[in-house]
Amino acid sequence: MKSTTYITNIQNVFQTLKNDFFKKLYVFSEVDSTNNAAKKIIETGFDEATLVVAETQKKGRGRFSRTWESPKGGLYCSIILKPSVPDDKITLLPLVTSLAVAMTVKKYNLNPKIKWPNDVRIKNRKIAGILFESLHDPNDNLCVISGIGINLNTDMKYFPKQLTEHITSIKNELNRTINYQDFFKNLLMNFQMYYNFFSTANFKKIVDEWKQYSDTLGKKVKIETMNGEIVGLAVDIDDSGFLLVCKKNNQILKITAGDCIYLR
Ligand code: BTN
Repeated sequence: MKSTTYITNIQNVFQTLKNDFFKKLYVFSEVDSTNNAAKKIIETGFDEATLVVAETQKKGRGRFSRTWESPKGGLYCSIILKPSVPDDKITLLPLVTSLAVAMTVKKYNLNPKIKWPNDVRIKNRKIAGILFESLHDPNDNLCVISGIGINLNTDMKYFPKQLTEHITSIKNELNRTINYQDFFKNLLMNFQMYYNFFSTANFKKIVDEWKQYSDTLGKKVKIETMNGEIVGLAVDIDDSGFLLVCKKNNQILKITAGDCIYLR
């Protein structure tokens, strides 16, 4: 697809949303990272909620400074927000985002599951990830960036060999290309719906729905954190989205961030 066509298609999606939630759109055929672009936009002032979208990324970033492969066919976007909820609830926003992704994917007769904190997977292989970052704007308001990467119409041949066992794309699962614009529009509408629960302090709704999509709870897990590994049973998530892990000695630990590995 010509890059001008891509840009026009995304502009059309934005226009047909017919709502006043997303205020501004930045669309690129190529960018280093939509999250980096979002940071620059925040530094110069922005309208809540702003959307940054790209057809490809040269330096797509994942959690823990990993690379996010971003060939054409995938969906790469960042949503910039200035949430007006208590600071200790901001950590629910990645869950809002993964819920919106999972709900959108489910419409394609797929059975997406969320692995804590917010990997969306199909049959244990990752199709989407979320990179959540926060920073202050020039007026010292807390701003957040929810960066979403989805392997949508991505051909598996574009991924490094060592990854193909662990990741998949929607195209690979369905054996067909899906309409990018329709998917993107649904994703934005679902995000808006869950964000509305979030900004009206209906945190319980978010946590309850997240639990329905999650396949983490009830599993024996190893969590790799900045301060070492924790092994135990994933028993619950709290109303900030933190994972509660019950260790062998019955001590329950609250995990705020980390990589989750399922154990047998
Ligand atoms: C992860 O699972 O490690 C998170 C991946 C997040 C990738 C998206 S793609 C759009 C946005 N821009 C980036 O550089 N990263 C996020």
